[in-house]
Amino acid sequence: MSLQKFLATLDTLESEATGAFDAAADADALEANRVRYLGQKSGALKEVQQQMGSIDKVDRPTAGKRLNQFKSSLQAAFDASKERLGGGEDSSFDPTFDPTLPGTRPRVGHVHPITQTISHLMEIMGRMGFEAAEGPEVEDPWHNFVALNIPQDHPARDPLDNFYLATAATNSDDQGGDGSQLLRSQTSTVQIRVMAQNPPPIRIISLGRVYRPDDPDATHFPMFHQMEGLLVDEHVTMANLKTVLRVFATNYLGGDVPIRFRPSFFPFTEPSVEVDFFWNDNWVEFGGAGMVDPAVFEAVGYDPEKVSGFAFGLGVERLCMRRHGVTDIRDLYSGDLRFLRQF
Ligand code: DAH
Repeated sequence: MSLQKFLATLDTLESEATGAFDAAADADALEANRVRYLGQKSGALKEVQQQMGSIDKVDRPTAGKRLNQFKSSLQAAFDASKERLGGGEDSSFDPTFDPTLPGTRPRVGHVHPITQTISHLMEIMGRMGFEAAEGPEVEDPWHNFVALNIPQDHPARDPLDNFYLATAATNSDDQGGDGSQLLRSQTSTVQIRVMAQNPPPIRIISLGRVYRPDDPDATHFPMFHQMEGLLVDEHVTMANLKTVLRVFATNYLGGDVPIRFRPSFFPFTEPSVEVDFFWNDNWVEFGGAGMVDPAVFEAVGYDPEKVSGFAFGLGVERLCMRRHGVTDIRDLYSGDLRFLRQF
């Protein structure tokens, strides 16, 4: 038999057989077609395999290659037909399922913009050697106020400015406290916790939630986040503070971000400053800072004659919002996916 004729036979047979498999209406018709085309004894496949013998030797590789394709094509048509008729391995075959329709994409969630910001801040500060420290959100007045040099009659302790809790403090390190508890109003509490547990030198940041009973508006929310920083060692100066904050601002906001200190007052630092970054042609306030007050060192058992240190507290929402152009803090906590999906 000539090669041309052999190939032509295969073409005709292939379309006939695949058509027959596709058209098989039930298991019996499928079986009849299987015997006819793939049957071991006298099926069409067997027949053409035998015809190979009569092909010229030089043409055999070409013929053999085509024969293999023919065989897989018939087998695939048979398998597909079997699957379609429910005889396949998957017995959960659903005739109403249309595999040609586009699928439903699984929804993958992602990390909240504030959580993303926190990771970013930790990374930048980590490169400058600051380790992350944590403290509880439910605090006692000793850690939130007393050890931070905020006396009993200080307005920051006003019940109207704090979330005092109805439960009594149970922690053993509430030194000389009155037994009350509150949601911490600042992450400066973590400075106290870290120093009370560890000797100097200290180089930590603490990122976490703080709570104040403010009415929500574009720039206020009763819960927000702060990044507290604390560095204690020998001979620490205000210049060190300014350098760290400038390197931080430049890394977080991009470009070279000049920073500015304005004189201020915090009970736990002396001197104290407000910290502004120069960003988008404006001076923007991001938080407070200063040199740790000797009274704070004394409260945690450090010798203020031997060590000095600086501390700072920056608003995490403010940093995140400025960087991403968010103008209303409430958007961050509305749970509105149209907003959140942008990050
Ligand atoms: N705790 C201050 C606040 O919540 C911010 C702050 C100011 C933290 C000065 C500091 C600091 O560590 O040194 O307003």
